[in-house]
Amino acid sequence: MKALFGLVPAAALLALALPADAAPDGATVFARCAACHTRTGAGVPGAYPPLGADFRALAAKSAGRRYLALAVIKGLSGPITVEGKPYRGVMPAQVLDDATTAAVLNHVGTQIAKTGPAFKPFTDKEVAGHRASGSGLSAADVAKLHAGVGGK
Ligand code: HEC
Repeated sequence: MKALFGLVPAAALLALALPADAAPDGATVFARCAACHTRTGAGVPGAYPPLGADFRALAAKSAGRRYLALAVIKGLSGPITVEGKPYRGVMPAQVLDDATTAAVLNHVGTQIAKTGPAFKPFTDKEVAGHRASGSGLSAADVAKLHAGVGGK
């Protein structure tokens, strides 16, 4: 018990020592997504899909959430159809840790994708689970998941 009491203040100090901006900022990370998907997430028809209604529809289903997380983690190599338009591009894997992946997905779900069902935020734990379950998948395998989850 005595040892435990000793640990608590140490943990509290550690938390205080972390800079306030240590939590990943989804808006900052989104700048790299915007290079292709555009700043508003509207995308470029036929080249870069919009991050909008399809994103929110997918995020409302557990299989869709896995697809979204894995698209960012593993990359994506279609064909996929998003909002009625075909895409046959390649999205490179984004090298982000679990918390940062969750932060950028949450930024998209709340600030970029404005239509569709209510958005439930990703946690870093959920992203870690998808990363583990999808570790053997290629970018082309991830794209195949899209058809199965019926986005918009
Ligand atoms: C180099 C360009 C590029 C960058 C950077 C990029 N993407 Fe993509 N993204 C694409 C392309 C291209 C596709 C479609 C791939 C295909 O045609 O199979 C795509 C598809 C997606 C999809 C699937 C959309 C759907 O409705 O099925 C999501 C989600 C996504 N990107 C999110 C992101 C996020 C979040 C980031 C930033 C962390 C990001 N992308 C960065 C090019 C990019």
